[in-house]
Amino acid sequence: MRKSIIAGNWKLNKTCKEAVELVTELNRDLSETTDVDVVVCPPFTALRDISDVLVDSKIGLGAQNLYWEDSGAFTGEISAPMIKDAGAQYVIIGHSERRQFFGETDETVNKKIRAALAHDLTPIVCVGEMLEDREAGKTEDVIKTQFSGSFAGLSAEEMEKLVIAYEPVWAIGTGKTATKEQAQEVHQLIRQLLTAAHGESTAESIRIQYGGSVKPDNIAELIAQPDIDGALVGGASLKADSFTQIVKNSLGVAK
Ligand code: 13P
Repeated sequence: MRKSIIAGNWKLNKTCKEAVELVTELNRDLSETTDVDVVVCPPFTALRDISDVLVDSKIGLGAQNLYWEDSGAFTGEISAPMIKDAGAQYVIIGHSERRQFFGETDETVNKKIRAALAHDLTPIVCVGEMLEDREAGKTEDVIKTQFSGSFAGLSAEEMEKLVIAYEPVWAIGTGKTATKEQAQEVHQLIRQLLTAAHGESTAESIRIQYGGSVKPDNIAELIAQPDIDGALVGGASLKADSFTQIVKNSLGVAK
């Protein structure tokens, strides 16, 4: 049985002060939650302050991106050792917003996964189709291409250390959640791709989150699906009450 993982992707939101306020509330409400892994992913600037608040907490901390070199002349970039040093254990890689607006490709995603793993950070690797892909019946092709490019050359042992997030781009920030059937269909496809590449036991151990307009009132039906192992939450992770409610509503849901 895979343990669910619910992560909040704060995107480009929260000053250090606001971030500390939010995580202090989450820590009060969720610090004893052990049945699901809870992670917050603030902007880089707030990592250090938040990690101080989360000392001894069950809540995990993640960054939203990284660069694959450890150090050097790469103005504006942040490396895996720096993220680690700031107190994080996770890093989101290949989010669709980075693919759309910042030139992220499957090849750079692959390099970033390797850098994260080399420094003991758990990558949360995002895949997902655009609306025009879905409408053209190309969802499966897009996921297969992203899968083979992003995870190229990774061993079963390496794959077991990461989390995958399926985020249909058309469902992000739009209020349009994929139906539980649409989400499960793609999660099952990803599980099949994992099985074909690395065998059943590896495939069964890897957690696949769903992301895209996850809210307190839809988390339970999503997480009830056999291949949905958690959520990557955007907008609803920016307020303590909605994120806490998502975590609580995910608990005890029969698969
Ligand atoms: P929303 O929950 O705001 O749709 O964002 C989803 C997302 O992109 C999480 O990474």
